[in-house]
Amino acid sequence: MGKILITDQLDPLALQLISEAGYEFDLAPGPWTASALAARAQGYSAIMGTLSDELGAEVFASPALQVLATVSVGVNHIDLKAAEVAGVSIINTPDVLTDATAELTLAMMLMVLRKTARAEANLRAGNWSGWALNDHLGSQFSTRTLGIVGYGRIGQAVAKRAEAFGVTCLHHQRTATGLPGYCASLDELCEAVDLLSLHLPLSPQTQGIIGSRQLDLLGPEAVLINSARGGLVHEEELAKALEDGRLAGAALDCYVAEPAILPALLNAPNIVLLPHIASATHETRREMAILAVTGVLEVLAGRRPSNLFPSP
Ligand code: DGY
Repeated sequence: MGKILITDQLDPLALQLISEAGYEFDLAPGPWTASALAARAQGYSAIMGTLSDELGAEVFASPALQVLATVSVGVNHIDLKAAEVAGVSIINTPDVLTDATAELTLAMMLMVLRKTARAEANLRAGNWSGWALNDHLGSQFSTRTLGIVGYGRIGQAVAKRAEAFGVTCLHHQRTATGLPGYCASLDELCEAVDLLSLHLPLSPQTQGIIGSRQLDLLGPEAVLINSARGGLVHEEELAKALEDGRLAGAALDCYVAEPAILPALLNAPNIVLLPHIASATHETRREMAILAVTGVLEVLAGRRPSNLFPSP
């Protein structure tokens, strides 16, 4: 029986599944660099990592390795080419985090539009002297036109929730959806909306797709939301647009060089900065762990799991 190396604390129910299947596991808390993990994981049949680990080519050099799971839907931190060459199966956790991510995305929209963090900080600092007509004014959510970039599971879940608030939703992605509200180009979408939310994977094709040009097309009343991947956005250009008043606000849950935050973002006006928590609910993290473990066990048993990446 092969052994499984796990780089973060998995839900006990997921660990129980491993034991019940008769496999041993070791916990080796990350985050790991690729070279350190390659050395640590020698002899293991499976690695279960996270997006905090650097899952580069070295990791796949181990002859014993059959499967690598990431407890995330995103796979941009994995050298997929090296995995393919080495014949190592990749497992991720799609679907189960859709609702949690969509919920947090809506929260981010409301936080930045209604300036909730600043209002609460003022109250806690003792700066509230009572209700007044012109205090803590934000901007209405329901009158916005929302542009969704990437209209997969999460993008559609965000649209469904935003529509319930009365928001008009448009969307764009590379492949035409044939659905109402589809914009053929990102530029067209940016020109048409005053709230933009990103829901597409990070890849060489999508790296930096939001920069000065797109922010200027959005305009000075617009707000940017990113709960997908930091690398989709040129952070310096975003910070400058906020500073210059060329964009009204932004809410980010992910960053180019996590956990480091660009100082210009920390100092930018009207920006909400969250620590990559879109999927962070007890329920979802448990489901993610169970789905990842199930996929690993299926591969080790010689079967094809439903969450093999890429999906057929
Ligand atoms: C993912 O799964 O890729 C999210 O970013 C974290 O849950």
